[in-house]
Amino acid sequence: MKTVKHNVHYHVGNKAETDMYSEVIQGLKSSPKKVSPKYFYDKKGSELFEEITMLPEYYPTRTEMVILNKYKRDMAKAVGADSALIEFGSGSSEKVRTLLGAMTDLKEYIALDISKDFLYQSACALSMEYPNLQVHAVSADYTEKFEMPSLQSKRKVVFFPGSTIGNFERREMMQFLKKTALFLKQGGGLLIGVDMKKDHAVLNAAYNDKKGITRKFNLNLLNRLNRELLANFQLEHFSHHAFYHGEKGRIEMHLVSLKDQRITIGNEEITFKEGETIHTENSYKFTIKEFQDIVIECGFTPKKVWCDERKWFSMHYLEVR
Ligand code: AVJ
Repeated sequence: MKTVKHNVHYHVGNKAETDMYSEVIQGLKSSPKKVSPKYFYDKKGSELFEEITMLPEYYPTRTEMVILNKYKRDMAKAVGADSALIEFGSGSSEKVRTLLGAMTDLKEYIALDISKDFLYQSACALSMEYPNLQVHAVSADYTEKFEMPSLQSKRKVVFFPGSTIGNFERREMMQFLKKTALFLKQGGGLLIGVDMKKDHAVLNAAYNDKKGITRKFNLNLLNRLNRELLANFQLEHFSHHAFYHGEKGRIEMHLVSLKDQRITIGNEEITFKEGETIHTENSYKFTIKEFQDIVIECGFTPKKVWCDERKWFSMHYLEVR
């Protein structure tokens, strides 16, 4: 399916959310129980995440924007004018605007997102601001196989900001990087945002904000399962738990069952012991060296790294060998 409206080409890259039911059931039947963080982002979840990015405690988005602004010219040079810029998880396409502001001559931008709610709207807004830019909106889960519109540019550069790479387990992360290298082909680029290891208090605060927005964001997942998968979670019987696990180098988010309980979801029944959790997110943090060692193993050559002064967040430019 392909529709053309204004200057934005809309494509369905893959079925994105159609396998949600079986994947969620499988996760809830696992021990320990888990649900993928990609399911946080329904309309309400996307709005709550936007709110998170503005919280004083949540430094990643703000810090990445500082880095982007400060080094946008260097980054634009690395991307190159004759490339197609492809963003994985474009959301409101806010970050790419900084980059586009520094590249007057980019021809194609492709926004990929799993959440259709804002995708087309954001792509249209961007297209109005950059009338010479060919904008494509692709609704797709980029962790799965997806189809791309045909492109004019020879070279591809993937823009993957936000440290979403931190959501992957090591094995998934390497699979994802290797697949991305194959997709980009030799000489293709990856401009990626990576959150860094730091003081545990700073990390813990970022996922336990005073206003309780992260708590709402975590619990909203249950609302979504109730609505979309006909589950009957009672939100008051679960609590938000987020903490930094020093040995594993990751933030873990969980939903803790506050009592022994039984819920139904579709035709399935799931039982919880008091204190049992659904593991909803990992957010891995990396030193520059740790991250570079991994990408080298996956077929990339680290070309450039940009950081903020506190060394809280990093942006890497990598090229496929
Ligand atoms: C979008 C995955 C980078 O891990 O910090 C924010 C999501 N979760 N607060 C992160 C998130 C809780 C975020 N990423």
